[in-house]
Amino acid sequence: MPHPKVFVTRRIPAAGLDRVQAACQAEVWPEQLPPPRDVLLNKIHGCDGVLTLLTEKVDAELMDAAGPQLKVISNYAVGFNNIDVMEASRRGIRVGNTPGVLTEATADLAFALLIAAARHVVTGHRYVLDGQWKTWEPLGHIGQDLCGKTLGIVGMGRIGYAMAKKCFGGWEMRVLYHDHYANEAAERDFGALRVDFDTLLRESDFVSVHADLNATTQGMFNAAAFKKMKPTAVFVNSARGPLHVQADLCAALKNGDLFAAGLDVTDPEPPRLDDPLLQLPNVVIAPHIASATVSSRNGMAEICADNLLLGLEGKPLRSWVNAPS
Ligand code: DGY
Repeated sequence: MPHPKVFVTRRIPAAGLDRVQAACQAEVWPEQLPPPRDVLLNKIHGCDGVLTLLTEKVDAELMDAAGPQLKVISNYAVGFNNIDVMEASRRGIRVGNTPGVLTEATADLAFALLIAAARHVVTGHRYVLDGQWKTWEPLGHIGQDLCGKTLGIVGMGRIGYAMAKKCFGGWEMRVLYHDHYANEAAERDFGALRVDFDTLLRESDFVSVHADLNATTQGMFNAAAFKKMKPTAVFVNSARGPLHVQADLCAALKNGDLFAAGLDVTDPEPPRLDDPLLQLPNVVIAPHIASATVSSRNGMAEICADNLLLGLEGKPLRSWVNAPS
């Protein structure tokens, strides 16, 4: 039996890629940047499976370009907002993602952004490099305290829980959360209180976003939301850029509606170099690196390979987004 044909849209760690290459007739896109759309549509033609990143839009056009033999879409990410899952399900195409292995790494980075934004870590670094550090300043670089403050988690899934656990355990924060579903573990383990969105915005000193990006969450952090937050609050987004309205965030940071923001995600990614957000001193931006640790990326590669190979065999995926209920 010939090896199944697959297209892999970027090099991923050998922990997964080696097995895909051993079991499939695999073409791996070798460049740092994603394949241009027309190239992707061409490369996927005749494929039985595709291993995608969050940079690839996987829609009906792409599924058409692949052809009716396409069995599985294995996304190298826990988020799958880049995939039209309904369309895949309609065509009987399995969709896989990579949850679990990046939970702590992502929460770690969300916390790093929180403390960096709250305590001027990056502006302080730049201040030193620019030769502006002349003496110890009693009134300079004053940031926000963390201990005993209120943390508002939007999206209390695995990553939201891990972030809340760090802030509760290490910094004795009071935890509020906003989610469609109650998280009993969070309520039991650190007394997290489920509240409506407005209450969370009003009462939190730190708001950290860990929600999925979908039609209901897109743009939920807009001018109206930022207005409801404390002027001393820090906003952290390590989920997806379009959860916030970037121009509104920029305005809120500029006019003092918010103290600071820490972002691992922007809209678009990367941000345009002339985006005024990049000029603000009270924003810290990382280039979407929350899962960039050895164990997370290897774990993602392993799950992603498993999902792809299982899907090619018509078996249940290890992490199956559109599993039949
Ligand atoms: C994800 O997995 O969804 C992240 O954004 C990238 O690791």
